[in-house]
Amino acid sequence: MVEIQIIFGSNGGNTQLVCEYITDQLIELGHKVHLDPTYEHGSLEPNFLKHFWPRIQEIDLQQHACVVIGLGDIKYDIDYHIESARILQAYVETHNGRLVHPSLMVSGKVLPLLDKLVKGWSERLHLKLETL
Ligand SMILES: Cc1cc2nc3c(=O)[nH]c(=O)nc-3n(C[C@H](O)[C@H](O)[C@H](O)COP(=O)(O)O)c2cc1C
Repeated sequence: MVEIQIIFGSNGGNTQLVCEYITDQLIELGHKVHLDPTYEHGSLEPNFLKHFWPRIQEIDLQQHACVVIGLGDIKYDIDYHIESARILQAYVETHNGRLVHPSLMVSGKVLPLLDKLVKGWSERLHLKLETL
C-alpha cells in the first residue's frame, strides 16, 4: 500500500472527473489516496495565481515519487496540445521531484476514455508503485 496525494486544478470539471476516477481505482487496488483541488470550481481568478505561484515555487519534492496527469484538446494549436502535462513535468523536474511513471495524457472527450485509457494507466501505475 502506498499513500498517494493527488492535487488537481479543473476549470470545467474534466480533470476533476479523471482524478476522481483514478482515486477510486487506486483505492480499489489497495492504496490510501487523498484528493484535493488547488482551487474550487470555475475559471481561475488572477488573485489566486498571485498567491499560488510564489507558494509552489518554494516546494521541494525531493522526498516524493511523482506522476503527472494532463488534459487537453486537439482543437488547440498542436504546439500546445496537452501543454498542461509538459508544464507539470517541468515543474516536478525543477523542484527535485522524481517522475516515476509516464504521464497520463487525456485528449478530447473524457467520459469514453475513463474505462480504457484511464483505467489501464491506473493499473500500470499500481504495478509501478509496488516496485518502488
Ligand atoms: C481557456 C482554455 C484554454 C485551453 N488551452 C488548451 C491548450 O493550450 N492545449 C490543450 O491541449 N487544451 C487546451 N484547452 C482544453 C482543455 O485542456 C480541455 O478542455 C480539458 O478537458 C479541460 O479540463 P477541465 O474541465 O478540468 O478544465 C483549453 C481550454 C480552455 C477553456
